[in-house]
Amino acid sequence: MNDELQKKVAVAIRDPQNIGEMPDADSVGTVGNSECGEMLRMWVKYKEQDGEKVIDKASFQSFGCETAIAVASLATELIKGKTADEAMELKPEELSGELGPLPPMKIHCAELVQGALRSALSPEDQTAGQAESSAEPANLSPTLQDSLNEGQSQSSGGLKINFLDEEK
Ligand code: FES
Repeated sequence: MNDELQKKVAVAIRDPQNIGEMPDADSVGTVGNSECGEMLRMWVKYKEQDGEKVIDKASFQSFGCETAIAVASLATELIKGKTADEAMELKPEELSGELGPLPPMKIHCAELVQGALRSALSPEDQTAGQAESSAEPANLSPTLQDSLNEGQSQSSGGLKINFLDEEK
């Protein structure tokens, strides 16, 4: 990671925005990357604005990678006021926009955020983005830690976490 990016990531994670579970969320999505072991969960809450359903707020929990935390922090701010469709259109480079271009080895960090976001925004679409992810009602498994405690099971009957396919 170059120095400038490292500084921007450091600034972003010094005071990450919207971190933590959201008990009253309308939707939640979780993705994992089997290569690096990073997992990210995102909660979304909607509101009505000018007759449209838009994102009121979003939050996230993440383990590990600072870049994913920095991108998730930026992304949860960026999507406020957007419709689900508008937010679904956002590409990884748009979600990480303020950080500037990510090096190839860090692009998947932004893709992880995109995957979690798409999972939360489109619970019925299990093929959203590059993430085969799980989305479940917000009250089923409230924390990422719970998910991990469930053994990261893909079919435990509780939370299902699918891992992003690494194509690199
Ligand atoms: Fe894998 Fe950042 S190193 S998500």
